[in-house]
Amino acid sequence: MVEATHSFPPGFIWGTATAAHQVEGDNLANDWAQWEKQPGRIREDHVAGKACDWWSGRWADDLDRAAAAGQNAHRLSVEWSRIQPAPDRWDETALDAYRQIVSGAAKRGLQPVVTLHHFTNPLWLAEQGGWLNPEVITRFERFSTRVVETLADRVGFWTTINEPNVYAFAAHASGDFPPGGRDLAQAIRVMAHMTQAHAAAYHAIHRLQPHALVGMAHHYRGMDPARRWLPLDGLVAGLRSSNFNDAIPKALVSGELRLVGRRLPMPEARGTQDYFGLNYYTCERVNFDLGRPRELFGHGHFAPQLPVSPDGFIADDPGGFLKALRWAKQFGLPVYVLENGCEDSQDDFRRRYLAGHIRRLWDAVNFNWQIKGYFHWSLVDNFEWERGWTQRFGLWQLDTETQVRTKRPSADFYAEICQQNALSSSTVAAYAPAAAATLFPHDGPGELP
Ligand code: BGC
Repeated sequence: MVEATHSFPPGFIWGTATAAHQVEGDNLANDWAQWEKQPGRIREDHVAGKACDWWSGRWADDLDRAAAAGQNAHRLSVEWSRIQPAPDRWDETALDAYRQIVSGAAKRGLQPVVTLHHFTNPLWLAEQGGWLNPEVITRFERFSTRVVETLADRVGFWTTINEPNVYAFAAHASGDFPPGGRDLAQAIRVMAHMTQAHAAAYHAIHRLQPHALVGMAHHYRGMDPARRWLPLDGLVAGLRSSNFNDAIPKALVSGELRLVGRRLPMPEARGTQDYFGLNYYTCERVNFDLGRPRELFGHGHFAPQLPVSPDGFIADDPGGFLKALRWAKQFGLPVYVLENGCEDSQDDFRRRYLAGHIRRLWDAVNFNWQIKGYFHWSLVDNFEWERGWTQRFGLWQLDTETQVRTKRPSADFYAEICQQNALSSSTVAAYAPAAAATLFPHDGPGELP
């Protein structure tokens, strides 16, 4: 095969992403710890347990792995319930532990990107109504202030809230996350409070650190009508996409949150992003379905021609990634892909997925879209929320009994990409031969996936 190299611009950010509850272990004072104890909530009744044991210090070995694999950044989150175990108490030991982790990342050449809220809430907050109670806005602002005061000399890149759309829907409409609500109106309220809390945190962070980069991690899931000839499919796909994908990022531009026909003015949210954080995994087709009011009368499923991950959770749709990047670029900010990946304990599907997605990332960069970095989800297998340990997203496999990590081929594949700052035909031929002929065709470009 002719050697071809798709190079990324100098200084491109290559990292992996993790979240506190999924990797730390022994997080006992948040709503998930309680939820995991209830039979039937988590697949096979798994619990996070020791997770990847980062809280006992194994973060250091994992970040060694990331740095040795050529990564230059790491996205992690801080656990609110550790830092503020009670409304009137701050835990200096926990804050100090995070100081060590972010310094440890920087020492290894990994720029730390810190997320302030990634799906978990302190129990005391949950008991006060969690994100349904508008008081959460000032509580989150205070928490963010405290974290930023502590870490500002080491961190200048912040993500306020991870995937408010996924969180609000899972916690209040589908019932998969605590508190298990099944009421769309409540999910909408939570999305509004999260947008307002983000805005408050944005301004608080900038008061402390005027040059900080502050944004949100927006989960984008492409939604196309399943039957293009049926107007109802088009209507419902558009309705779902505008509420799930567009509402919050547009509110951060306009200062007005438009959700399911309602207009909620929040002028303080206007212009509260310094970059656009994009989480992309997959796309779906939508059928009109009168029986699903909580899902806005739509039923989502994967396009039948796409390869699907072993657990059926993700369709390999690199073209959907390009669409997601185009969608993200409309906001006129530098774009960072803060999550992208798939579950695959056998690491065969993942290698093809990675090859196709990095190729599409390169396309976007070379259309001169301002894409600045990419974080793969995830570094090591970690606790996958309501799916427990049944799904494995890590570049390294984790044995939860022994805490032994085993490198998957994708870790080496991704390391070559990071080290070369490029996707080369020889790397793809070595790790994802099935993708090589499509991505690097001898006879010029055919139909790209
Ligand atoms: C979440 C991660 C999660 C990943 C894979 C994302 O929506 O931010 O916490 O592990 O999906 O399920």
